[in-house]
Order: sequence, then structure tokens, then C-alpha cells
Amino acid sequence: MAHLIAPSILAADFANLQNDIEMINNSEADWFHVDVMDGVFVPNISFGMPVIKAIKKHATKPLDVHLMIVNPDKFITNFKKVGADILTVHYEACPHLHRTIQAIKNEGMQAGVSLNPHTPIAVLEDIVQDLDVVLLMSVNPGFGGQKFIENTYKKVIQLRDLIDKSGSKAKIEIDGGVNEKTGAKLLVAGVDILVAGSYVFKSENPLKTIKLLKSLAF
Ligand code: DX5
Ligand code: ZN
Repeated sequence: MAHLIAPSILAADFANLQNDIEMINNSEADWFHVDVMDGVFVPNISFGMPVIKAIKKHATKPLDVHLMIVNPDKFITNFKKVGADILTVHYEACPHLHRTIQAIKNEGMQAGVSLNPHTPIAVLEDIVQDLDVVLLMSVNPGFGGQKFIENTYKKVIQLRDLIDKSGSKAKIEIDGGVNEKTGAKLLVAGVDILVAGSYVFKSENPLKTIKLLKSLAF
């Protein structure tokens, strides 16, 4: 499978969101990566339902919603209603992760679990079979534009091994500090989906940057 590119709209121009949405629609990107932060699980607040609903109105590609919030269970139905196609929760925020994943699937969405940089891959052993996506944070969640944590490569190799051994169909997604250089190495290590925020939106030509990320070979 060719790898997927998911530009993170956290780095978009919120005063001209429709422009940036059209840019992604017209690009070689595959998904919209949509970061929801609650100021509790992470030390930052991003946006919520009304903004996601507005994005959905214009987006022609799936919405990959990354929840950096406590108690995500409370909002699963709402996220489906506003247009999430893939819903990812944090392992660290879900004491009843199996139940949370089933609830996401029951709403007809793809289910993902995200791990913080310090959380070991082994915690996924008994849930990976049920997942569509595993999102490894390659920065501490909460902000765009941070430096890629090198230990992520090792975790990708461990996760690839766990997925292959368990017969899981989960895709590996990486979020934080992705650029042409880290992206190429991540693909070699076995990654399926690259999220990129500032590398795309702060570049001179975002369309070209997406094309470049999409054309990275491994
Ligand atoms: C960080 C978010 C990321 C962020 C990535 O908490 O989950 O999706 O937008 O931004 P960059 O690509 O700039 O590191
Ligand atoms: Zn994210």
C-alpha cells in the first residue's frame, strides 16, 4: 500500500480556513488531520465541534480526528455527528480502552489509539487486533512545530513487529516533527501514514510540499 499523507490543520490559517481546506482537497493528501485539545490532557486548547463541522462542509477527504482530551467516551457520538471518519483516542486517557474502541466502531468510524512518546508499544498487545490505526506521537502532544523525538524509529519497528505477529490490520501513523527527512526514514521503518503540520503550512508552496511527502520512496 502506498503511504498516506495527512496534513494537520492545526497549522492552517484559521482566518482563511476554507482556503486551506480547498488546498488540501486539490492536493495529493489523503486525509485531513484534525487535532482536538482540551487544556487538561495537554497544556493547550485548539478547537471543538463547530469548527470540525465547518471543515466537514468543505472537505472532500476523510477527517482523521486526533483527540487529546480526557473522557473521550462522552463525546464519541458528537464527533461522529460533526463528521469524523477516523477517531483516535489516547491510551493514557482511557482506563477502559477496549470499551472506548468498541464504541467508536459501533458509530461506524475507524478506531485509532495514540501513544505518548514515553508509553511503550507493549501496552497495545491485547488491543492491537481491534484497531484500524495506531498513532505514535513523535513529539509531546499539545503543540505543532516541535522537534522530532528520535526514539520514535525504534518504536515503529517494535510496532510493525507486533502488528505483523498479531495479524492486526492496523496502520501505523506518525504525528509530530514530520518533514522530508524524518518522513523518509519513517517509511523505511514501516510507517503507513505521515501527519505533517508546520512542514506543510509554513512552506512556500504547500501543494508542492504535500506532493514531495507523497512521493517519498522506501
Ligand atoms: C501535536 C499535534 C500534531 C501537530 C503536528 O500535538 O497532534 O498533529 O499538528 O505538528 P507538526 O507537524 O508541526 O509537528
Ligand atoms: Zn495530531
